[in-house]
Order: sequence, then C-alpha cells, then structure tokens
Amino acid sequence: MTVHAPSAPAIDQRTLRDAFGAFPSGVVAVAASVRGQLTGIAASSFTSVSIEPPLVSFSIAATSSTWPLLREADHLGISVLADHHDVVCRQLAGPREERFTGLPFKVTGTGAVLLDEAVATYDCSLHEEVVAGDHLIVLLEVHEVGAGDGEHPLVFHRSAFAKLHRDDLDPARLDGRINGAAVDRGVRDGEDPAGATSHDAAGTDAEDAA
Ligand SMILES: Cc1cc2nc3c(=O)[nH]c(=O)nc-3n(C[C@H](O)[C@H](O)[C@H](O)COP(=O)(O)O)c2cc1C
Repeated sequence: MTVHAPSAPAIDQRTLRDAFGAFPSGVVAVAASVRGQLTGIAASSFTSVSIEPPLVSFSIAATSSTWPLLREADHLGISVLADHHDVVCRQLAGPREERFTGLPFKVTGTGAVLLDEAVATYDCSLHEEVVAGDHLIVLLEVHEVGAGDGEHPLVFHRSAFAKLHRDDLDPARLDGRINGAAVDRGVRDGEDPAGATSHDAAGTDAEDAA
C-alpha cells in the first residue's frame, strides 16, 4: 500500500463538504448491545468491499464518543435503512441515551442489533481499523446477511433524505452487462438474470467494467 504524505490543506472545507455531499448514498444503522448497553450510530459512509472474504466498511469520525464502546462488541449489526426511516436516522444520530427509544429492533445471539423493516441486514465482527485523516475506516467481516423486510432504501444526498423506487431505475441496467462487459452478479442456478436484483460489489467495479 502506498501512503502519501499529507499536503497543505488547499481546499476550503465547506467546498469539500459540498462536493462529498454531491455523492448520493444509502444510510445504515451500526449497532450492538455491548455489556448490556444498546449503542450505535447512523452512517452514510457504509460500502461493500470484498466478496471473498466478505467485507464491508464504514468510516467513523476519530472524535466519536460512541465508537470506543461500539468497537468492543463481539458482533455489530448493520441495518440498511428503509425510506420511512428518516426519523429513525435522525434519532440514531442524536443524543446517545435516546437513540433506541421506541425503535423496533432485535438483538441477535451474538449481540448484534438489527432494526425491524430494514432493507437488508448484516451480522458482522470487527476485522480491521485503518486511520484515515480525521476518520477511521472500519472494515467489518460479514458472518450472516438477512434480506430485511423493508422494500425501498433511504437515500442521503446533499444533506437531505430522498427516496428511490424501483420504477425510477433504468431497466437496461438489468441485462447483466455494463459498457459491454459481462457483470458477475452472483446469479444462482435456475434464477432468471433479468429478474435478479442483487448488487455485486466486485462485479460492478469500474475496473471490471472497463
Ligand atoms: C445521515 C447521516 C449520516 C451519518 N454518517 C456518518 C458516518 O458515516 N460516519 C460518522 O462518523 N458519523 C456519521 N453520522 C453521525 C453519527 O450518526 C452520529 O451522529 C455521531 O457519531 C454522534 O457522535 P458520537 O459518535 O460521539 O456519538 C451521520 C449522521 C447522519 C444524520
């Protein structure tokens, strides 16, 4: 890995935040029961990383007061928030003692906290933490995934919540090819590729598609 020495800050922070905010994302809840204490945050920095081994990541502010406790969890739950979870998202980002008040969730046998009506869930353990400027990149190993009972994801864009419905998507995307390159979307035997809706992180890398 090449590590570049940090250069003098040349970009105005507001400009940089606005540019970061131009990139739309989903939002997840990262949560666990640690020593009997419900703990968690909302994170829009979640991303899929590796199929083999199965890894996902999110970034956490180095100043986070929640991460020192959350990182002690044997297992952490990731819940992909559904489009009606905008209030839940704000709550999970709010005062620590109120984050789980009134929220429907389950605690797995491993201590991961998974929200009801999420679009997908992951039961993970901490794999590695990488210091990256004023954040930590947290790599999580995925032990179990759940389909979730929510349908449409919450979208976060330019500091606002938006909704994404399947009717809005371009059906041409579903033919299993990007820029003419076949995309391995992990279609199972006997499954209709055109009907598959899963997203394969490794198969959709720009490199693979070029
Ligand atoms: C939509 C949304 C996305 C967020 N994404 C992140 C994130 O990716 N990383 C992060 O460190 N905090 C993120 N936050 C802030 C945390 O949810 C939480 O407010 C913060 O960690 C609280 O500070 P604490 O860690 O000291 O409790 C996000 C907040 C919101 C509302």
